[in-house]
Amino acid sequence: MANDKRIVVLISGNGSNLQAIIDACKDKQIPGNVVGVVSNKADVYGLQRAANDDIASSVLSHKEFASREDYDQELISVIDSYKPDLVVLAGFMRILTASFVQHFEGKLLNIHPSLLPKYQGLNTHQRAIDAGDTEHGVSVHFVTEELDGGPVILQAKVPVFENDNADDLAMRVHEQEHRIYPLVVKWFCSDRLTMTEESAMLDNKRLPMHGYASDS
Ligand code: GAR
Repeated sequence: MANDKRIVVLISGNGSNLQAIIDACKDKQIPGNVVGVVSNKADVYGLQRAANDDIASSVLSHKEFASREDYDQELISVIDSYKPDLVVLAGFMRILTASFVQHFEGKLLNIHPSLLPKYQGLNTHQRAIDAGDTEHGVSVHFVTEELDGGPVILQAKVPVFENDNADDLAMRVHEQEHRIYPLVVKWFCSDRLTMTEESAMLDNKRLPMHGYASDS
């Protein structure tokens, strides 16, 4: 449709979240289309997923750039060539420069496998187990210059069972990721979700610190 939003998804690997978003667009749950996929790694399965649906893709290896700043400037050009309304980080395992984040401010989303602000950074599942947490989860948030620190839009929780290892927990979290990321993308593409002064706003109401809670 004419008003469909143009979505660009950035990946570094398997792309199961990319797939969930592609599927939700195809099912018309999201008023938008994935018009481009950008990976910093060649030969990852996420690129195959794009090809399976005839979605254009680009590989931009960070190894070919002298600095993070140079890489991000080129990444901006590649992404902008797809004329995106929304840029979705889906397992894109790079720290982004301030200029990149500023360029896409308000239209840059990330999914992080923890209940932020807990466990920013890597190895979140093992860290939750090591801490003896009884619940763990995933957060979708707007990206700001603070790593894994932007305003949370939506979280999903999962239980941590006594004998879980990191893979068990990752699998349980992934299931929830595939539910909440398409939902948040749908909100954004329906013009319901914005970022104002570093707060996430849904239907012009400020979301609470831990994101949307349907029973509040
Ligand atoms: C997801 O679990 C996502 O939360 C995580 O990478 C995985 C990508 O899976 N992202 C981060 O850790 C970002 N800090 P996928 O490639 O199958 O979508």
